[in-house]
Amino acid sequence: MNAAIRLRVGILGVGSIGRTLAAALDAKRIDADLVAIADQDEQRAESVAAALTTRPRVVSLHELVQRADLVVEAASQNALLDFVPKAFAAGRDMLIMSVGGLLGHEDWFRQASEKGCRIYVPSGAIAGLDGIKSASMGYLQSAVLTSRKPIAALRGTKYVVDNNVPLDTFHEETVIFEGTAEEAARAFPTTSNVAASLRLAVDRTVPVCVRVVAVPGEARMCMRFAYRESSGVCPWMWRTSPRKIIRALPSWRLSRRSLRWRILRGRCG
Ligand SMILES: NC(=O)c1ccc[n+]([C@@H]2O[C@H](COP(=O)([O-])OP(=O)(O)OC[C@H]3O[C@@H](n4cnc5c(N)ncnc54)[C@H](O)[C@@H]3O)[C@@H](O)[C@H]2O)c1
Repeated sequence: MNAAIRLRVGILGVGSIGRTLAAALDAKRIDADLVAIADQDEQRAESVAAALTTRPRVVSLHELVQRADLVVEAASQNALLDFVPKAFAAGRDMLIMSVGGLLGHEDWFRQASEKGCRIYVPSGAIAGLDGIKSASMGYLQSAVLTSRKPIAALRGTKYVVDNNVPLDTFHEETVIFEGTAEEAARAFPTTSNVAASLRLAVDRTVPVCVRVVAVPGEARMCMRFAYRESSGVCPWMWRTSPRKIIRALPSWRLSRRSLRWRILRGRCG
């Protein structure tokens, strides 16, 4: 690619996700240049920058959006309140990791199309969101995302703390939360991104229910996605793996029943 037209990337938040992305850019595993990073923890940003060969500048959020063509948010839902308007003001495309923070901000999508900016949302631990999106236009009646989490992964989370969920008394699988994707994004701000991506992908008319199950003795997180379809057609099946290998198997099977549940399983973490 011509050096003059290489994509310039800026990252807000250099914790586990931002640092991984920065390292991939630095190692040229992604065909773009990391030009700047920002973090509320400036010391952390300085030490991340110092460990990279390309030594990106550590800058303020304002400067980040000035320097980059694509700005990546890998910070927190709260950070979006400042990040998105600044990215719009500079006319930048953005990749949002804290997807839950987009729910309830439909105006941002309207502004993006008015300003000609793109908001990219990663599919994360769920594969085939494009297929789900197409299926939701006419085929889906409702969707349920069940997130089975180890006790250790739930300990200290906002919902568990706020509601004094007695994790240590559970001896069998226990549903600790059931609600809409929007409610899940508020209850589990750092771990509800798959639910939020799903909510954004499916048609607004399709209800999305999120269930969080505490699983004693389990070490890995597991997602199960089920949907109720309004016709007998099941256009695709999806599986996810820790490496996010996507398998889209065309099956085109016709069901005799007009309504049926399809269970799709995925493992992550
Ligand atoms: N969409 C997905 O598939 C997916 C997957 C994993 C994590 N995430 C989300 O990505 C975000 C980052 O995850 P992480 O695991 O790297 O978190 P982390 O806690 O390891 O790192 C977050 C970094 O952002 C910084 N930060 C937080 N709020 C900030 C703000 N307002 N301004 C500037 N810097 C700020 C912190 O100082 C920290 O360095 C989280 O919101 C998480 O939920 C999304």
